[in-house]
Amino acid sequence: MPSEPKKRRLSPSPSPSPKEPPVVHIPYEVRSSPHVNAAYDSALDQHGPVVVIPRHGRRDHVLDHRYIRQALVADPESFSFEKGAAELLNLGFVSAWGDNTAYIHDIHNLVAKNVQPRLGGIVEHLAPAIQGQLELIKTVDGTTIGGCDEEQKDFAECPDLFDQIQLAVAQAMVVLILGESHAASPIMAKHFSAVAVGMADLAGTHESTHAWARFPRLWAFWNALSAAFLIILPTILFGIAPALWKTRHEHLANGLAAQQRQRQGDFTPLFDVALAQHCGDKPSGLAFLHCLTLCVSIIWASVHQTVVAALWTLVRLVQEQDEYLPAIRREWESVVDAPGSGGGVRRLSAKKLGQLVLLDSFIREVMRTRGDTLGCVRQTTRPVQVGPYVIPAKAMCMMPISRAHQHPDNYGTTGGVFDGFQWQKLGRQATQIGPDFLTFGLGKWACPGRQLAVHEIKIVLYALLSRFDIRLSENTFLVPNTINTASVAPVATLLLRRI
Ligand code: HEM
Repeated sequence: MPSEPKKRRLSPSPSPSPKEPPVVHIPYEVRSSPHVNAAYDSALDQHGPVVVIPRHGRRDHVLDHRYIRQALVADPESFSFEKGAAELLNLGFVSAWGDNTAYIHDIHNLVAKNVQPRLGGIVEHLAPAIQGQLELIKTVDGTTIGGCDEEQKDFAECPDLFDQIQLAVAQAMVVLILGESHAASPIMAKHFSAVAVGMADLAGTHESTHAWARFPRLWAFWNALSAAFLIILPTILFGIAPALWKTRHEHLANGLAAQQRQRQGDFTPLFDVALAQHCGDKPSGLAFLHCLTLCVSIIWASVHQTVVAALWTLVRLVQEQDEYLPAIRREWESVVDAPGSGGGVRRLSAKKLGQLVLLDSFIREVMRTRGDTLGCVRQTTRPVQVGPYVIPAKAMCMMPISRAHQHPDNYGTTGGVFDGFQWQKLGRQATQIGPDFLTFGLGKWACPGRQLAVHEIKIVLYALLSRFDIRLSENTFLVPNTINTASVAPVATLLLRRI
């Protein structure tokens, strides 16, 4: 009997001469200009549904928005998230040597099974950490503003606000991942911030603005090397790991006790849960190392993007405050309890944050319109047919986010119009994903921490805008990295005054 032909993924019916997608060059100056999304749109309109756009020595295969579902939902076997993520971090050699699938599944399960189902307990612990960090804001002259009994002063410039928000979110992640005992000193939050910044560098966040025009691959190599050996490894080896190793028995005992209890809603730090899953009853060196690297990956996934999204929303809300802020303030006054007689921090809970539907809508609209060019990276595991073209195996594939977020196919004639409260009217939450809203990805690998991320953004905005009058200094708004708005925050000079 003749042997069955090997199955190929050139469905539905392989064309007689499979065509590779066309290569379209978009010059560096356009890629780093405000016209970048229009250039990608026009490349897809003219040559799609797949175009190869060389960038920094790589060949990005960009798929038209009509094929996003095929890549992210229908055929995850052909479009690998795991290999795409490794390649994005310049760690492609890891997945080439061995299979990184189990490791990525461990990260996914740790977050998916322990964050969303325990959101209530988590927010109870995280909210005070963020609010505490944003209680006093540093001003340009080295003083602080925000004290409870402070008299109203003039507006003061606060140039470190990004760093302070980053520290606040990092502090929250220290609580989530390691527990409150490690959050007592601010040093651990600083280590988390450093790792988040280093990992963002490693992922090539600044390749559109900092890379060498002549030797982009060499720049990528040098950039990865310096991020790994000057920032990430020293911070982990000399900052985070020693503190965890010293307390490993307490963490394991807590994780095992939580396993026994198995009560819904209980909050247990992720490191403790991971140790209990991977160590049995004694923390071995190897299992400890595995859990440590899982935590580092979660720091990468959780801190940087949340801070950037919070800053985008804050700046847009400050810009559009006359139209949107009064209603948002009324909403949180009706939801959040008044402070006790001694003043102090108002308590926020997951339930209350869930009731802030106008703020939720505004956050979604900012993320829809901020202009992310590419996202949801996948690597093909075999030749795949997309429309008339065949994408070869091991190709880096990316989705055109801004196109999907504004195209008339998805939004009719209003895709480019900013309408901050439309999602409240339509009943779509910021975490509700689809092929027309990809900020948190789509399909099997959609962000499992998105509910927490949106809650954190709400806490940051509440902590700042319920206590401060905030203005944007004239002509200071700038988008420094137009192709990469999901990873690089806008630059703006903010002026704050205690309400
Ligand atoms: C505004 C903040 C955030 C944004 C915009 C964001 C966005 C994303 C995106 C686009 C992906 C890839 C999805 C895909 O390719 O289909 C992803 C994956 C992931 N995110 Fe987030 N994320 C955020 C915050 C968080 C937080 C706070 C956590 C953890 C608590 C988290 C944990 C993860 C993990 C573990 C993955 C890997 C995929 C998986 O395990 O399924 N993210 N995120």
